[in-house]
Amino acid sequence: MAEVLRKGLEKVGLKSPEPEGIPPTEPAANDLAELREKYEKAEQDHVFAFYDELDTAGKAALYEQLSGIDPRRINILADKALHPPKQDEDKQPTIEPLPSEAVDSLLETDEEQIKKWYEAGLDLVAEDKVAVVLMAGGQGTRLGSSDPKGCFNIGLPSNKSLFQMQAERITKIQQLARKKKGLDEDATVPWYVMTSGPTRRPTQEFFEKNKYFGLDKKDVIIFEQGVLPCISNEGKILMESKSKVAVAPDGNGGIYQALIMSEARGDMRKRGIEHIHAYCVDNCLVKVADPVFIGVAAEKKVDIATKVVRKRAAKESVGLIVQKDGKPDVIEYSEMDEEMAKATDSGDRLKFRAANIVNHYYSFKFFESIEEWYNKLPHHVARKKIPYIDTEKGESVKPEKPNGIKLEQFVFDVFPLVGMDKFACLEVDRAEEFSPLKNAAGTGEDDPETSKKDIMQQGARWLKNAGATVVSESDQTGVEVSPLISYGGEGLDYLKGREVKAPAVIEKSGAQ
Ligand code: UD1
Repeated sequence: MAEVLRKGLEKVGLKSPEPEGIPPTEPAANDLAELREKYEKAEQDHVFAFYDELDTAGKAALYEQLSGIDPRRINILADKALHPPKQDEDKQPTIEPLPSEAVDSLLETDEEQIKKWYEAGLDLVAEDKVAVVLMAGGQGTRLGSSDPKGCFNIGLPSNKSLFQMQAERITKIQQLARKKKGLDEDATVPWYVMTSGPTRRPTQEFFEKNKYFGLDKKDVIIFEQGVLPCISNEGKILMESKSKVAVAPDGNGGIYQALIMSEARGDMRKRGIEHIHAYCVDNCLVKVADPVFIGVAAEKKVDIATKVVRKRAAKESVGLIVQKDGKPDVIEYSEMDEEMAKATDSGDRLKFRAANIVNHYYSFKFFESIEEWYNKLPHHVARKKIPYIDTEKGESVKPEKPNGIKLEQFVFDVFPLVGMDKFACLEVDRAEEFSPLKNAAGTGEDDPETSKKDIMQQGARWLKNAGATVVSESDQTGVEVSPLISYGGEGLDYLKGREVKAPAVIEKSGAQ
């Protein structure tokens, strides 16, 4: 296994970490000279500015980190990012909404068809063919919390974290599959949790502390995505300290490289996984391993599918699913011009309204081709204020305006790799499936309060649909329904005719 990992890392120009517990030693003079030369040739040798004054541990750490970076490749990426080729006016891509054949909408499909998809998807769960991948490597800077976002408590009466809600939905879907097929044991939906340098350890500790939220530890696979150096506006690698390059996670598109390097994909292969649901950590309403979504994708035999909701306003910070030169694609909000964002159709609705909610489906077959394309995915530029150490003056600098860039791959940049015939889009109800946690409390939009409100209102809606009456004695409205009781509104019939005083928590099923 270690050998496989080492070879895998070497294939992408990275070095495997030294085993823990061995005291650091200073790199041999000839190894050091070789490495210096590599950086000199790339005109990035300022990274050695403080090398001689470091202690042994510092020298070893810096040597180790620099050996894992290919400065020539970084120069190529930085050059492309800082000096993008000018768009030829005559060769502007044609961007249109997706063709109607590629889109199904749960808002417009009859109940019977939705049920068929659900049943088909749940059968696949029962056959242990479905896995979920969580992208949880982001740093949540907008939220203003230093913990991984998944640990965040959005203030529900139960105080459940985002991770816990997702874990309980997995538990529930495993139980529903067992019941449907009359299995002896629950089905297994392995959960692959992608973390990054900053989120790995706290995520791991949080899962340990909470006993994997009742899931079997062997079915929760925590793995780590890669990082890339931060670059100054002049194209130089920035140093975080005298012995450390400033690095940042390589974007959620780093998922593909991480899946193959971490052996997560190998684990999926061993388990016979055929369908994968990938999603992001911040959406408290996410339907993890959603049988309807799996059912649609499996029926259409597509390689990639994605869920969308209707964009609520021209300036909402969401990517848009489009067709670009006839291929499925996403235009990210940070890269969209105002004219496109505001364009309307003949019905006076936003012309581009298929908002990306980062719920993606992949066939395992498609994951088998990752090696063919993962290092061709583009890098996007995020201009940031990056604290660094001035290698000439030896001073730490905390910049007040963006002084450099972070390079990120986007998870959806694989969409154009498949033709429209291998791609499907499913429009879902925002109230049931999308409430992202992006901003700090008090912002009024996509913040902890809106997350909580959306969960509580969903619960109240489910109870009313089941024939219960929800009365509210204060402005604290809504009902929190534990995912262990209901995955998507089912199983609440025992509350028919009952009166429930909000705010309330439904933690027990009719049988209990
Ligand atoms: C993302 C989508 C955007 C969509 C919006 C909906 C991307 C690139 N953009 O934007 O199209 O409309 O969500 O909420 O997908 N992550 C990692 N590693 C990283 C960076 C991020 O795992 O290096 C994870 C985060 O933990 C999170 C997810 O990716 O789960 C999305 O990241 P975030 O930065 O919140 O994306 P947005 O800018 O909101």
